Amino acid sequence: MKFTVASLAIAIASFANLAVADNCTPGVRYCGFNLLQKGDYHRTIEIELIAMGEPTTEDSINNSLFLCRTRNDGAIYFMRHCNNSVCNDGGPGNNDYCG
Ligand SMILES: *[C@@H]1O[C@H](CO)[C@@H](O)[C@H](O)[C@H]1NC(C)=O
Ligand SMILES: *[C@@H]1O[C@H](CO)[C@@H](O)[C@H](O)[C@H]1NC(C)=O
Repeated sequence: MKFTVASLAIAIASFANLAVADNCTPGVRYCGFNLLQKGDYHRTIEIELIAMGEPTTEDSINNSLFLCRTRNDGAIYFMRHCNNSVCNDGGPGNNDYCG
């Protein structure tokens, strides 16, 4: 059996889908720093960033946007890093945004 980086990333990504302590609201976009304040998301964010080939620096964690999956299990999906801008808190129930 041949293990590729892609299959490893998929394996890690599906592992990242496990539920975490304080779940995000399904369908809402969150900045990384906001997820950290919401619950025990640090490890989940790191796993997701690694799976997507993104750096796991504090800046990368804080200023990336994640979409809360709609399965209601608290899983997140990396959307984008706010390149030259910061990630902003959109307020409770609202999408966070870059810029
Ligand atoms: C990331 O966010 C945390 C929590 O808000 C904050 O304590 C930390 O200083 C931030 N780090 C950077 C590099 O922005
Ligand atoms: C962020 O910047 C990198 C390098 O400049 C670029 O390749 C990437 O497309 C940019 N991503 C977004 C979402 O703007």
